Amino acid sequence: MPTSEIRSIILAAGKGTRMKSSNPKVLHSIMGKTLLERVVNAALKVEDINKTYVIVGHQAQMVENLVKEKYADEVETVLQEPQLGTGDAVYKCYEKLKDFQGSVIVLYGDPPLIRTETIEKFINSHRTSKAVLTVMTAIVANPLNYGRIIRDEGGSILKIVEEKDATPSQKAIKEINAGIYCFDWQKIAPAFNELTPNNEQGELYLTDVIDWSVRKGMKTNAYVLEDSSEVFGINSQKQLARAAIKLKNRKLEELMDLGVTIIDPIMTWISPETEIGADSTIYPNCYIEGENFLGEKNIIGPNTYIKGNVETADNVKIVASVLSDTVIAENVTIGPFAHLRDNVNIAENVRIGNFVEVKKSDIADGSKAAHLSYIGDTKIGKNVNIGAGTITANYNSITKEKKQTIIEDNASIGSNSVLVAPVKIEKGAMVGALSVITQNIAENALAVTRAPMKIIKDWVLKFKK
Ligand code: UD1
Ligand code: CA
Repeated sequence: MPTSEIRSIILAAGKGTRMKSSNPKVLHSIMGKTLLERVVNAALKVEDINKTYVIVGHQAQMVENLVKEKYADEVETVLQEPQLGTGDAVYKCYEKLKDFQGSVIVLYGDPPLIRTETIEKFINSHRTSKAVLTVMTAIVANPLNYGRIIRDEGGSILKIVEEKDATPSQKAIKEINAGIYCFDWQKIAPAFNELTPNNEQGELYLTDVIDWSVRKGMKTNAYVLEDSSEVFGINSQKQLARAAIKLKNRKLEELMDLGVTIIDPIMTWISPETEIGADSTIYPNCYIEGENFLGEKNIIGPNTYIKGNVETADNVKIVASVLSDTVIAENVTIGPFAHLRDNVNIAENVRIGNFVEVKKSDIADGSKAAHLSYIGDTKIGKNVNIGAGTITANYNSITKEKKQTIIEDNASIGSNSVLVAPVKIEKGAMVGALSVITQNIAENALAVTRAPMKIIKDWVLKFKK
């Protein structure tokens, strides 16, 4: 019995020769996510798709590792070895789908701008038209290197001709194969047994399945895409750069529509996976990649690099800094030139100033580290003042261990002090400037380790003699 179930097959086995890179093409990244992830994510969000296969081949292990790491069991990889073409790639699922009675949607791993809604609309059109096979097409100004859509006088699709096999008049056709297909698996599957490499590239073309189904008299449709930029496939470094610009511009426009101020859209990069609240302002030269959630009325930049997993509440200000894996509460100021990384939690009203690095640390309400510090593996309480130049010596280079520093509420650390972990500064305690702290300091105590100051009268005069 036919079912409405849909499985997707994503092709990621090709080398991507035109990238001139040692990495597989689909593993190139745009703003923190690989091309392949962008396609897989778009497909996984389609409700009706309940199983996804990724075809791997060139550097299969690398691609497989990514799929395992990001999707665990949600996505299955299938090996294509050797890589004989896009038709051969789909054929690798032949055995797995032997008894499958639903539809299959095939996508390539290289169009990172594809949207879930577009895939959904495409599936709907395939269903309502009752076609056996539907292929997505687009009208583009420059069809170079895409497969061209050949239609008959009545406008019905006949076949797809690849650039390398096209005659000059076919090359003039502006309707191209977008590279997304949906078909009734059982009806189309036999085609994969009949593909031949009779073409310029000597490959088994998936595109030849269209010609096959037309010849068999099966209902074959072309679905013309509205926004052709969505299926922009990446084949070269130049196209990778162009796709990145398209992707970020699309995001910036969405954010501006939601009330975010982008001072200079040309000089600003924000990943599609970043959310930003209304009335936030992004100054020029910010590069925000990966998944982030920034609140309302934030001021970010100029010159800030957010590398992912950063969450800010409202009214946070971050100037010229680098951040990753950090959660920041309301009314916090960061920078300029701060570096926050590897699981940092910052509570309300904290200030992290110039040249301060914070790694794997928690800082509670109202505390300040305003200048020139390294804070690592540290728990800082409320209203603590970290003087300029304070260093937490968290690393023992002999044992290679990292140890914790605890600084409790209202403590105050004098400038240029070194806190040798593990160590605890209790509530309200003070550390005198230039101290090296190797023992715990009790509540409200003062610790000073510097040598007493000497003043030697006329020393300079004696020295000169
Ligand atoms: C393909 C289409 C072309 C279409 C264009 C859209 C074919 C023959 N041509 O051309 O009509 O206009 O995409 O972007 O399908 N792959 C495998 N195994 C292989 C070969 C390729 O998995 O043996 C994968 C690649 O990793 C890639 C995808 O299939 O993700 C497409 O391959 P690519 O070489 O980029 O095809 P195009 O020449 O761009
Ligand atoms: Ca391509």
